[in-house]
Formats: sequence, structure tokens, C-alpha cells
Amino acid sequence: MTIKICVLPGDGIGPEIMEQALRVLEAVRGDGFDFVAETALIGGCAVDATGTPYPEATSKLAKDADAILLGAVGGPQWDSLPREQRPERGLLAIRKELNLFANLRPAILYPELANASTLKPEVVSGLDILIVRELTGDIYFGQPRGIREENGERVGFNTMVYAESEIRRIGKVAFEAARKRGKKLCSVDKMNVLECTQLWRDVMIELSADYPDVELSHMLVDNAAMQLVRAPKQFDVMVTGNMFGDILSDEASMLTGSIGMLPSASLDANNKGLYEPSHGSAPDIAGKGLANPLATILSAAMMLRYTFNLEAHAARIETAVKKVLAAGYRTGDIYEAGTRRVGTKEMGDAVIASL
Ligand code: IPM
Ligand code: MG
Repeated sequence: MTIKICVLPGDGIGPEIMEQALRVLEAVRGDGFDFVAETALIGGCAVDATGTPYPEATSKLAKDADAILLGAVGGPQWDSLPREQRPERGLLAIRKELNLFANLRPAILYPELANASTLKPEVVSGLDILIVRELTGDIYFGQPRGIREENGERVGFNTMVYAESEIRRIGKVAFEAARKRGKKLCSVDKMNVLECTQLWRDVMIELSADYPDVELSHMLVDNAAMQLVRAPKQFDVMVTGNMFGDILSDEASMLTGSIGMLPSASLDANNKGLYEPSHGSAPDIAGKGLANPLATILSAAMMLRYTFNLEAHAARIETAVKKVLAAGYRTGDIYEAGTRRVGTKEMGDAVIASL
């Protein structure tokens, strides 16, 4: 099958890490997998070139493609722009426009990197969590929103809102994912204070009747934040709303010590998806050939698995990454004494050699 990939390198280290992911995809071409890649602008580079972070041409390419591979967006030079022109807006716009409501963020500790975590090795060794974050609703998109004048002072307001259909569809994704893994699902809410998340909990309980093989539990978000650093291995799959998921997924990623290793997938109802590393655009090292390309390479593997059902191809890439780590190759972010420090391209070379 020839698949159409929309490539959005973005800002900062985005272009460098994307180059390596595309080289790896080239290298696994064959055995039923072929692709064409077309590149477009998103984020700050798009603002510079067109005045908007998600130009029409990018939207068209993304809609026409079978899947989207994204590098990273943002950088200090765009931070003072009006909200509508911030690079992050491009990301929110593509998620919403393509209905990419299901964000899968795995946090896996590679045994070779156990020392990279700030937590004790016994707390994190063998860690393998999947956070399922709702991505197109909640306070991120709820109306009304804004800053207005009230009684002579400014008042800022946003709206946390979920329709039960939105909760049900993300719940299904999470239950299905748990079914394929450790069969444990923890739903995270704040039902002791927020009605919106009382509904979240009610719908999750209703849904659980369809998944008797999955053990459903519930946790308040503050406790979940604490449990993630106290005893993270109690979790298998976690499901939560957009804002809580944003926060908890950053926390979970740092348990592994290496956000530079973690891929993510954002899927619509038909498993069309946008795949991107969980880390940001790292403007401080951009253009220097130092960035870790592994999260982007692993995102490409997730794309082959989730959107195209090419399990063998995906596993081949993931195995190659493990081999490269076992052989001691490290970019600066995961370097420790006694290992071999390499740059972005050498890391890409090593993965390709290990395929
Ligand atoms: C993320 C990011 C985005 C979010 C920002 C850049 C808009 O933090 O993907 O987690 O908040 O969703
Ligand atoms: Mg975030």
C-alpha cells in the first residue's frame, strides 16, 4: 500500500529530528509498505511565511493525507505575538479541525535509561503506562472564554465542558487500549468539586458494563498526580480530560527521565492520526545537530501501527531503537558516563543500521 504522509517539521529542532524519522521510514519501505511524503508549514515558521500558524495549504494537505507526522512548534521569538498567531494555535487548530480527539501518550522506561529518572530505580524500573488524553474538548475549547471588564476590574474566564458523547468516545478508546494491555483502566477526574467531571465518572462507569474484562478504577486528579510519583507502577492505562491529561502526561514522561524518548499519537474516529514526539521544539539546541530524534522515530513507528496496521514494520523500528540504546548510543539529553555520545544524524544512522 502507498500511503500519503503529511510532514510538518515545524520549528526549532523539528526539521532535524523529522529528517531522521523520514530516513528510518525510507529504510523500512517494502513488505507491503510504501509512502509518499509532502511537507508543509505549521507553527512559528508558518507565521513568519504566511502570517498564520496553520495556513490553508497546510490544512488542505493534512486533510488529504492518510496520516500526519509532526516535529515540534514554538520558540521564544513568537511568544509575544497575539494569541491567534502563536505557534501553539496551529497545533490546537489541526487537532480540532481533523477531530483528533484521542491522544495516546505512552511513558515507558527503557531499562538502559533507568538512571536518567529522578526517581529511585526500584520505583520506576519496568514502568509502562499509557495515558489516554481527550484532546478536542474541555476547558481548552469550551465557550464562553475571554477576559472582560466587570465592576471596574478585569475578569478572566474559561469554560470546562464535556458532552457525554465526547466522554464516551474517548472512554471507548481507553477501554480498548486497556484490553490489549494489562486490562486495568484508571479514570482521572475531580468529581468532588467539578460537575463536568462527575458526568465524566458516570459515563465511564456506564461504559464499563461493555468491558467486563477490564478493571476500572477512579482517582481524583490531585491524588493521581501524587500517586504518579509515589508508586507509578500501579497504573496501566489512565484516561482523563484535556487539561488534566496535559499536566499528568508531562509528569508521567519525566518518570522515565527522558522526554526525548516519548512518542505520541492523536487519533480520530477512523484511526487517522497525527504523530509527534511528546517533547517541545528545544530552541536552545536547534540547528546544532544535537537533538534526540528517537521520539520522532518512535512516533513514526506508532503511525505504522495505529493508522496502517503495519505491526511488523512498527516493531522492527522499536526493536532497532532498543538495540541502539543497548549498544550505548546516547544523545546529550540521555547521556551518562560510559556511554557513547552522538548527534542527531549519527543516532539516525545507528537506528537504520540496527533495523
Ligand atoms: C501538549 C502541549 C500543548 C497542549 C500546547 C503546546 C498547546 O502542551 O501537546 O501537551 O497544551 O496541548
Ligand atoms: Mg503539554
